[in-house]
Order: sequence, then structure tokens, then C-alpha cells
Amino acid sequence: MSKRQVIDISTEEALRQTDIIHILAQHLKDKNLKYCISTFGCQMNARDSEKIEGMLEEMGYQKTAKESEADFIIYNTCCVRENAEMKIYGRLGALKNIKKKNPNLIIALCGCMMQQDIVLDTLKKKYSFIDIIFGTYNIYKLPELMQTRFETKEPVIDIWDSHQDIVEDLPNTRKHAFKACVNIMYGCNNFCTYCIVPYVRGRERSRELDDILNEVRVLVADGVKEIMFLGQNVNSYGKTLSTPISFAKLLLEASKIEGLKRIRFMTSHPKDLSDELIEVISKCDNVSKGIHLPIQSGSSRILNAMNRKYTKESYLDLVEKLRAAVPHIEITTDLIVGFPGESDEDFLDTLDVAEKVRYAGAFTFIYSKRTGTPAASMEEQVPEEIVKNRFNKLLELTKGYIYENMKKYVGQTVEVLFEEISKNDKSVLSGRTDTGILVNVRAPEAFIGNFADVKIVDTKTHYLIGELAK
Ligand code: SAH
Ligand code: SF4
Ligand code: F3S
Repeated sequence: MSKRQVIDISTEEALRQTDIIHILAQHLKDKNLKYCISTFGCQMNARDSEKIEGMLEEMGYQKTAKESEADFIIYNTCCVRENAEMKIYGRLGALKNIKKKNPNLIIALCGCMMQQDIVLDTLKKKYSFIDIIFGTYNIYKLPELMQTRFETKEPVIDIWDSHQDIVEDLPNTRKHAFKACVNIMYGCNNFCTYCIVPYVRGRERSRELDDILNEVRVLVADGVKEIMFLGQNVNSYGKTLSTPISFAKLLLEASKIEGLKRIRFMTSHPKDLSDELIEVISKCDNVSKGIHLPIQSGSSRILNAMNRKYTKESYLDLVEKLRAAVPHIEITTDLIVGFPGESDEDFLDTLDVAEKVRYAGAFTFIYSKRTGTPAASMEEQVPEEIVKNRFNKLLELTKGYIYENMKKYVGQTVEVLFEEISKNDKSVLSGRTDTGILVNVRAPEAFIGNFADVKIVDTKTHYLIGELAK
């Protein structure tokens, strides 16, 4: 299919859904309806939820944080680990009671979890009170699904098993006026053997460079100062486009957009991190010097079984290369403990990498068996007790290193973009450095959305404490 056709179909689809939004808005007018959305999982889901919110608000729904006062409740679900799914099933039990009290309530479920047949079967059997179910490929069809539900008064289930066109230009919202997330690609082709994402998000598809840059320009004109480019593996951006282009080139072009003060991105797969990208990170002032570079395991044997396509040594070389080219770079990571077959020796390799790299932040996960992934049927699943012990050890070790790393900032002055009032103290604002480190500062609310120099006076493990620099 040529590029032209894709754009035509997508535009046509976007217009169709927009028409339905307007019909619904007319129909729901003056009803003072409220929606409540819960988002689970990663930034991809968070961004999808912004699109869902945009469509609902255009229909006339107002946002509420209370499920008990909502007319429309939607859960955007995640299934990356078993506990993510358990959380959702738990919440569904409570929803049943809310629905009993308010029979007009519409309940919708969407997101990654819905893309699994086993989940759909369970929902149909045990949770038949749910009104609308859709998946990750057809979010933009929400208006049409709602219209069908209103007209037929029957449950609507619409799950696709692959992506069709990328539909652009539907209404969407963003949490902060001054920063925004932009999808640069969807799906994943890497099939790490533990991971369910490629099965529920489909094959990797990059958006056209111009579409991304135009979206960023519009956002910047609307007051956005910081952009986060999102993809499961941003380093392979553009490889499958009809005119292939690199992620480094996209970053370089975006960095030229006037008024765009910060560009962050996630996630970087170590196997695809190019020299060209390292050069762009080091040369462009507005490209973040923070990189999320998940290693998953420090053992080359386990990395091979995980299908990660790099070794402990090549990863450490990459870290060295990054640090040589970008002296103040901060590296964060994801780590999995208890992958099938992980021996004490393999685990020691993970500890060794943590010690060598000294991450600025680390998400540590216990391996979770995901039905349908190759690792789920691997022999030698590690006993729970051993995994828990390893997990606690790794967590403690990484926490210590993170704290050590944070201490180096005490006495330094850093530039902070203020984001919001701190949850614990109303006179304190929380913001982030260019590398994504959280900073708490006593400052007036008017600073939100602005940059200021902050002198760091103290630190905790997960945030710095600073004062506005004179
Ligand atoms: N695309 C990103 C990661 C997306 S999922 C990347 O490749 O880096 C986020 C994290 O969840 C992964 O980095 C991994 O550490 C963790 N994860 C994924 N599947 C998991 C599983 N089955 N059990 C435990 N952790 C898992
Ligand atoms: Fe999952 Fe691997 Fe794809 Fe990341 S790169 S989403 S861990 S399959
Ligand atoms: Fe979860 Fe889907 Fe993200 S499974 S981690 S919400 S891509």
C-alpha cells in the first residue's frame, strides 16, 4: 500500500469518528455527564489515555477522580506482569457494586490485557456487566463503540488482532500544559522471550517523520517546552518506513524546532543504540542527557535466553562509550530477577553490572510468567524463595548506588523544569532536571511550567532537595 493511501484512509477514519463525537455531543448535551479513567502500565498506555480523554471531553464528558460519581468508567489495562492483571481483576469486583447502584453507568475496558483471548473469555464468563471492550489497535474507534452501545443497549466487544492504519488527528488532551508525550512508533518486533508486549501491541510501525515534527511544532506553539518521544525501542525508529530514516536524524530535526527546550525519549534498546545517536545526544543542547537503557540481566547466558541480542560485555562497552562522549549522562535501567534458568552465578553477573554501571535509577522486577511467551514454557523456573532473596539483594544494592549517585549533586546548581505542587507539602514544588531526576524546591506556584536554576542542598534516594539559586 502506498503512503498516500494510508493517509487517505486514516484521515477518512478520523473524520468519521469526529462526526460521531459531534452526534454524541449533541445527544448528551446538558446531561452534565462525568467520566473516570484509570490507566495502568507504561507511558504508551498513559498516552493512549490522553487520546481517550480528548474524545470523551469533546463529547461533553467532564473528568472526575471518583468512580462513584461517574457516568462512564474506563480502565486502560496492562498485562506486562501478572500483578498488573490481578490489580485490574480486583478493581472489577468493586465496579460490579457501583454498577448495581447506578444501572445507567457505562463501564469500558481497553488496553493490552484485552488483547489476550484468555482474558476475554474470563470477562465474558465472570464480568458480563462490562459494557464496552476494545483493544490496543482500535482506540480511535471509541466514539463509534459508544454510539453502538447507546443504540443497542447490548455489550460491545471489538478486538482486532493487528494494526490497520495509524489514525492521526483526533482530539486529545495532555496532563501538563508545558510538557507532552509524542508517540514516534507503535508495537515491537523484538520478542524478548519473557515479554508479552509484541503479542498485545503488534508489529513495530514508525510514524512518518513529518507527522511527528508537525505534531511537535503544534505542541510547542501551544506552550510545550519539553517533549518525550515514546516507543518500545526508539533506537529502531524509522527502519521500516518507505524512506528509512534513523532515530538520531529525527532527534536532530526535532532539536532544531525553536522554543523546544528539552527532548527526552524512551525506551532505548541497547542492541540498536548507534554512534550517530550518541553524537546527537552529545551535540544538541536540548536533547536530554538522561538515557533509559534497560539491561534486564547482567548474565550473557541469560541475555541470550532472553533474546536481547547483546552481552554483558557489549553493554558495558556501550555504557563506557556513552560516558566518554557525554560526560554528565545519567543512565537508568530495568532489571529482571528470576528468569528461567537463572543461577546464582548469573545473578552475580547482574550484581556486578549494577556495581560497575552505578545507575541513576533502576526498576527492578521479579520475572513474571506470561502465557504465550517462549519463556513461559522454559524448564527450570526459579523457585519463588530464591527469587525473592535475589530481588531484595538487588534492590538494596541498586538503592545504595542510586543514593551515592544523588549525593554528587549536593552543592551543584541544576536547571529544573517545575511540574507540580509536591504531594506531601503544599509549599514545595516538584520538578525535574534535564536527565529526569526529581527535585523538590520551596517555590511559588507560579513557577510551574517554568525553568529555574536550583542549588541542591540535600538528597534522598529518589529525589533531590534544592533552593532557588540567587
Ligand atoms: N520496550 C522496553 C520495555 C517495555 S516493558 C525495553 O525493551 O526496554 C518494561 C519492563 O518490564 C521491561 O524492561 C522489563 O524489565 C519488564 N518486563 C517485561 N516483561 C516482564 C516479565 N514477564 N516479567 C517481569 N518483568 C517484565
Ligand atoms: Fe518487550 Fe523486548 Fe519489546 Fe521491550 S523490546 S517491549 S522488553 S519485547
Ligand atoms: Fe503494559 Fe502494555 Fe505498556 S502491557 S507495560 S501497558 S505496552
